[in-house]
Amino acid sequence: MADPRTGGRAVQQVVFDEATIARRVRELGREVTQAYPDGDLLLIGLLKGSFVFLADLVRAIERPLRVDFLIASSYGTGTTSSGEVRLLYEPSAALAGRHILLVEDIIDSGRTLASLMDRLRSRGPRSLAICALLDKRIAPPLPEVRFTGFVAPPAFLVGYGLDHAEDFRHLPYIADLG
Ligand code: IMP
Ligand code: MG
Repeated sequence: MADPRTGGRAVQQVVFDEATIARRVRELGREVTQAYPDGDLLLIGLLKGSFVFLADLVRAIERPLRVDFLIASSYGTGTTSSGEVRLLYEPSAALAGRHILLVEDIIDSGRTLASLMDRLRSRGPRSLAICALLDKRIAPPLPEVRFTGFVAPPAFLVGYGLDHAEDFRHLPYIADLG
């Protein structure tokens, strides 16, 4: 597919186009708005992959909220999960008593999220849930996954925040790297 953004490198096919993503993110915004009728809501974006999704999602949520980030590293430059999760940054803000919604780009093996749940829960949030744009449904289902954008094919996907070795995050669509 010819796209000047990819520098001539092969990106096989568009799996979710821009309009489809925008429609679903607006719906997710409505779902999140309705799910939290009261209380303090803190969205925690898991960097780097969630940065585009989070930016669109927060603008589709029509209630007060705050934003923070988590940096966990589970992948090197490869395309398979290492199973190791290092925490490089976690929110300095108090989580106690707040609704925490962890925003993730994609759930693959689920190891990244599973390892984060215990750490976040130990900080005493009022509730703890996950909003994932994509879920490959490979992992055993995590009870905290309350909002899912799309069920993803078992391919390696790039774009809309998702990378391969740091490339392709800026594609406005989600494509199969092939
Ligand atoms: P898990 O721990 O195996 O669930 O991996 C989750 C993390 O791996 C995500 O936050 C992504 O950063 C990365 N990842 C998993 N699958 C893909 C993919 O298809 N494309 C790009 N990144 C992926
Ligand atoms: Mg990644």
